[in-house]
Amino acid sequence: MKYLEGIRIRKALTSDLPGILSVVKNAFEHMLYSDQTETELVKCLVNSDSYISSLSLVAELDTKIVGHILLSKIQIEIVKSEPIASLALAPLSVEPMYQKKGIGTQLIHNAHSIALDEGYHSVTVVGNDQYYSKFGYRPSTDFNIRLPFDIPEKYCMILELIPHSLDNISGVASYSSCFQAFS
Ligand SMILES: CC(C)(COP(=O)(O)OP(=O)(O)OC[C@H]1O[C@@H](n2cnc3c(N)ncnc32)[C@H](O)[C@@H]1OP(=O)(O)O)[C@@H](O)C(=O)NCCC(=O)NCCS
Repeated sequence: MKYLEGIRIRKALTSDLPGILSVVKNAFEHMLYSDQTETELVKCLVNSDSYISSLSLVAELDTKIVGHILLSKIQIEIVKSEPIASLALAPLSVEPMYQKKGIGTQLIHNAHSIALDEGYHSVTVVGNDQYYSKFGYRPSTDFNIRLPFDIPEKYCMILELIPHSLDNISGVASYSSCFQAFS
């Protein structure tokens, strides 16, 4: 795949929200599986305790926002032990005319790198298994961790940012109420 030149990945600013919502809306508009609530999810997460401003990234071409990724806080609840911190990747959006040019890949790699720097060791995602497996995500069934969504298990995936960090961890991922409201 040939990467598009001139793409800059940077942390999102508060003033980017309209541009982000536009990309999110356009990216999911024709997705058959989508219920078109992704923009509401972003608005809810941005205003929630789960929001981490350094993990909302935009892809910019000149001054236009053409992609966005958001990683927000979740917890993995463990029986008879303290919950452990993790992240949920959602949503990931690339403007349709700029898709398949490596922008999603750059957003994911940058987000993973920042997440690692900030001390997180895992990321969950609900999405296309063929796509996310390219980035090391594995079905949650490979781990003893359940994602609380009523969808086929292969779409529930987890990445260990630090290999083996989820060894011997058994529990259920607990998401922001934003996900219940818009899923
Ligand atoms: C999914 C999405 C974010 C991918 O972004 P992108 O910038 O087009 O992806 P990239 O160009 O970085 O693609 C990386 C690789 O994944 C492949 N790919 C891209 N979209 C794919 C898809 N929907 N399913 C499977 N593979 C896909 C590319 O062909 C490329 O493969 P290669 O490395 O073998 O060449 C983008 O298509 C999008 O916004 N889709 C609509 C919203 C959506 O579905 N978001 C994800 C929700 S889980």
